[in-house]
Amino acid sequence: MSKMAASMLETGEDVFRKIFKLYRRKNPPPDFSDAIDFSRGLPSDKIVPAKLDPAAVSDVEAGRAGLRPVRDWRAFGLKGYPGFIFISNPFLLDSQPFWVRQCLKTYTQKPNVCNLDMHMSPTETQDIWGQSADSLSHPSSGKAEPKTLLEKLRWVTLGYHYNWDTKTYSVSHHTPFPADLHFLSHQITSACGFSGFNAEAGILNYYRSNSCLGIHVDESELDHSQPLLSFSFGQSAIFLLGGIQRQDPPTAMYMHSGDIMMMSGQSRLFYHAVPCIVPAPQGHTALQMEGCSRESSLLDNSVVAPVSEEDWLLCSRYIQSSRVNVTVRQVLGPGQSFPETPPLHQRNDDSQTEGYHDRGVDKESGKSSSSSDS
Ligand code: OGA
Ligand code: MN
Repeated sequence: MSKMAASMLETGEDVFRKIFKLYRRKNPPPDFSDAIDFSRGLPSDKIVPAKLDPAAVSDVEAGRAGLRPVRDWRAFGLKGYPGFIFISNPFLLDSQPFWVRQCLKTYTQKPNVCNLDMHMSPTETQDIWGQSADSLSHPSSGKAEPKTLLEKLRWVTLGYHYNWDTKTYSVSHHTPFPADLHFLSHQITSACGFSGFNAEAGILNYYRSNSCLGIHVDESELDHSQPLLSFSFGQSAIFLLGGIQRQDPPTAMYMHSGDIMMMSGQSRLFYHAVPCIVPAPQGHTALQMEGCSRESSLLDNSVVAPVSEEDWLLCSRYIQSSRVNVTVRQVLGPGQSFPETPPLHQRNDDSQTEGYHDRGVDKESGKSSSSSDS
């Protein structure tokens, strides 16, 4: 990839955008052999083991969040990306179904906000799961059927609700952050050496097989000293991690179900994007979870509860062709509060109410050179 990156630099073009488009290409399909796959432990001179702090999280606390003991986690860093940590699926076998169910059934409920609220009344978007259950759980008759609300869902915001227009959070648009996700986030950040992480905002992205996420930096949070956490569930994806500039050639890596990424330190403000969704490897992820959801090795006071067979049927149908990404952010530093008015540079942008997915591939030029969803 570096040769290609160098030649693009010579032509003065945006290296990140070129590589993004390369991974989005349908014909001929991209060469995925450059993408790092942490789950395979493929030898790469770019990968280094990440130092965790197993003493910061007891086995019981990890277990309550549905995680394996920290000493068993496979965590990696990447040379040239200080503060970036990739944890290859640290979840206990039977806990992923719970988090998937939360993303589809629980976090989609009011008072959380979703893209459907932009065009529909709160009563219409009250029960996205319930309204989608019937048609999703019955095999398609072959005829083109109207899309369910779950299939139309693109994003949900939690806690301080991200405003896509102004690219800000505000004190007035806040609802309680889910306690279970707060707890999970706390265990992971603690294991990674951040003791005081406070999950205050969440963005859930729902990807269909042809979705993508444009090139961006997450800089709207007021405190960048705390990490940004990202969880992947369902189908796999290619993640591109660049640098502080668009000319920095990004590194491509696979994200599989259960994988967790932490962006902290310098990497906290690096450009990144998801150019494409790729099928989960056989026996690897979503499908492997089938049947594991009821069998319960869960602790008594676990935040992770068993998932009913009925719920799991719908979840597994959904993730057979979808990916769910959860990002968790701390917005304010200790003792920090929101400024009276948002900074000017965050107010004069064009409308982004549909979220990243409709940004197109290049948020700087505003060009939408690919339809991110059909
Ligand atoms: C985000 C983000 C990446 C992903 O929501 O800001 O970068 O893996 N998500 O979907
Ligand atoms: Mn992001």
